[in-house]
Amino acid sequence: MKKISLTGIKPTGILHIGNYFGAIKPALALTREYDARYFIADYHALNTMKDPKELSERIREVASGWLAAGLNPDEVIFYRQSSIPETFELATILMAFTGKGLMNRAHAYKAAVQANQSKGEDPDAGINMGLFTYPVLMAADILLFDSHVVPVGKDQVQHIEMAQDIAQAVNYTYQKELLRTPEAAVTETVAVVPGLDGRKMSKSYGNVIPLFAPEKELRKLIMRIVTNSQPVEEPKDPENSQIYLLYKLFATLEEQQALAARYRAGGMGWGEAKEMLFQAVNRELSPLRERFEAIRADPVTLDAVLARGAEKARAIAAATLTRLRKAMGIAF
Ligand code: TRP
Repeated sequence: MKKISLTGIKPTGILHIGNYFGAIKPALALTREYDARYFIADYHALNTMKDPKELSERIREVASGWLAAGLNPDEVIFYRQSSIPETFELATILMAFTGKGLMNRAHAYKAAVQANQSKGEDPDAGINMGLFTYPVLMAADILLFDSHVVPVGKDQVQHIEMAQDIAQAVNYTYQKELLRTPEAAVTETVAVVPGLDGRKMSKSYGNVIPLFAPEKELRKLIMRIVTNSQPVEEPKDPENSQIYLLYKLFATLEEQQALAARYRAGGMGWGEAKEMLFQAVNRELSPLRERFEAIRADPVTLDAVLARGAEKARAIAAATLTRLRKAMGIAF
């Protein structure tokens, strides 16, 4: 039996190249080795997104994006969190095993409190219970499916540790391995994807290249990458250039070496380098963009794919809950 890999995808923003190399590609690579269960964490998004049109748009967009990037729904159980009511029943159960103090220590909550305090506001201003209990819901997502590994970014490691603590509290109480203790699989091998301004590519910096940008927009964004004023003739250090660092993610080894050699020889201007980068990016992303547009144009099929995934997921979820309810004396 293969081990189980599970991850949640928050539909809070449009997918960009940083997501592609940092999250999508590594998670899809794991699907060869693991039984994968990947889902759209739509109730997690509700904590911050209250515009119904925007939320439903993002849910479909992100789901389409993962499918376009190569997620095969015949191999991966792919579903929406909101389609699995067992998640919320398990979250309620886990609340009884989760210390309030554990939640007080969560980085995201602490950061929100500190932001309030530094503005002289009430410490809990604007903080909803969804944010405060976020780690419990996330633990429910994970523990419901007997996950062995959870591919996540570094910022999520604390949440996985909390899921471990909560699972162990349940197991200790009943002196039985009722819930599997999950491990984080942090994807550190991928270099930081540089954004348009040279900082790490991140939605919060507004320096992203959207994964499915139309060709024209893609070229425009790449032409906007910030460069220094070195003249064309001057030899350049490839590793110090955002253009080259992005190029490395899309070009073959030979192409990388060729561009690096031209940088070092001098005579390579930023404009020409950007054009080469555009060609390499567009070569890899064009087929994804086409698939994405086809999936987006057919929401009925998309919703059916997600509904099929939910059906498979619910069968597993129901078994976990039955096991727990019996052990707890809730089911006789
Ligand atoms: N909290 C994760 C994020 O912000 C998303 C998420 C929700 C998740 N539930 C999960 C990730 C379960 C892994 C497992 O990116």
